[in-house]
Amino acid sequence: MTDKATLTIGDKSYDLPILKGSTGPDVVDVRKFYGDSDHFTFDPGFTSTASCESKITYIDGDAGILLHRGYPIGQLAEESSFLEVCHLLLNGELPTADEFTLFERNITYHTMLHAQFDTFFQGFRRDAHPMAVMTGAVGALSAFYSDSLNVDDPKQREISAHRLIAKMPTIAARAFQYSQGRPFVTPRNELSYSENFLRMCFSVPAEDWVPNPVLTRAMDRIFILHADHEQNASTSTVRLAGSSGAHPFACIAAGIACLWGPSHGGANQEALEMLEEIGTVENIPAYVQGVKDRKYKLMGFGHRVYKNFDPRAKVMQNTCYEVLEQLGINDPLLQVAMELEKVALSDQYFIDRKLYPNIDFYSGITLRAMGFPKEMFTVLFALARTVGWISQWKEMFEDPSRKIGRPRQLYTGATQRDYLAVEKRG
Ligand code: ACO
Repeated sequence: MTDKATLTIGDKSYDLPILKGSTGPDVVDVRKFYGDSDHFTFDPGFTSTASCESKITYIDGDAGILLHRGYPIGQLAEESSFLEVCHLLLNGELPTADEFTLFERNITYHTMLHAQFDTFFQGFRRDAHPMAVMTGAVGALSAFYSDSLNVDDPKQREISAHRLIAKMPTIAARAFQYSQGRPFVTPRNELSYSENFLRMCFSVPAEDWVPNPVLTRAMDRIFILHADHEQNASTSTVRLAGSSGAHPFACIAAGIACLWGPSHGGANQEALEMLEEIGTVENIPAYVQGVKDRKYKLMGFGHRVYKNFDPRAKVMQNTCYEVLEQLGINDPLLQVAMELEKVALSDQYFIDRKLYPNIDFYSGITLRAMGFPKEMFTVLFALARTVGWISQWKEMFEDPSRKIGRPRQLYTGATQRDYLAVEKRG
């Protein structure tokens, strides 16, 4: 039996090939459907549409599974490091010891920014949201690297990927230090990726900075948890921007802009604000009632793909406990979060809609304890997701069937009519 679907419109039938994935749903290939039938398929929000073929990340939303190149996220978060995961996402395999040494060196030795680049930050108001600064600053990077403009050259693509992974922590830390009115801190090559980032964020000239291994590990784990998530809104934005052949740094700036929205990366800031607004455990029932009355949403809950626990949320919750314990913080918001989770998970409204905590539910409390203001939460997400974005962008260029992204539409506006001079308009 051939794998095909048959779609009938009126008295005509169209055979549509079915393409097999290695796991997960197969797809009905509609690429020739418009040409054959003069009909488009309609799927705003892409709830049933695979926009590309990919070998990077697999999600089973019903089972709560997330795999990067086949490896479960829980194993990567517990046993790997962010840079190793970067290599895995970009190149398809975990690195050998020699490959890792080379990769780590390539990243470490590209962390500095052009001295002139720092003048960009001075142009922003100090109270600008750091995501606004990130969108502008990362877009500006493309003005500095005209040696890697040819996106069709694999070597230049690799250089751009390494530069992005290397420079994002430096840019993100500068966006933070600038917002705090503190001087910029130069990266140090003897430090690990996450240690270096924390030092660039929290070190001040007046005293020596002392690394804390628990916080460094937590930072690294948070980066791993956010590294990629297949064809989400920001990744699809990067792919769509890149499909025209645009410079990768400009594409990543587009991804950052998309990530900023409260339905996507901005949710971690909003989740913490929600917990602050609830304030104490006694206020939870009234707040949950407001959600059920559709006055607002429970931020950090629900996901387009996960209709079960977000597998990243469990790791995030454990990381949250570890950080608070290490720092000796007894945050009342953790109590509120745990009780809210319990209440929501046993409430029919949330059960019926399969709403579970997502990664953002516990990340805000953790990051706040580590010393980050909430405006920085989405910046950290952008830093970590950069490797996912650039890996997906690179994969798109390696795909021989690449085409410029050009969705169509169901047009419901006015049909053709004649122009009327202003005095004749009713
Ligand atoms: N609180 C209350 N109700 C919700 C929530 C929520 N957080 N999320 C979805 N629902 C309800 C909807 O009102 C809808 O109910 P209805 O069928 O009675 O109308 C139903 O659940 C289905 O919701 P949709 O909006 O269709 O789900 P969708 O897949 O489009 O939305 C989204 C997913 C945007 C993540 C949504 O769950 C949401 O807004 N969550 C809060 C924001 C958030 O935490 N975002 C982070 C996402 S993870 C990330 O980016 C890392």
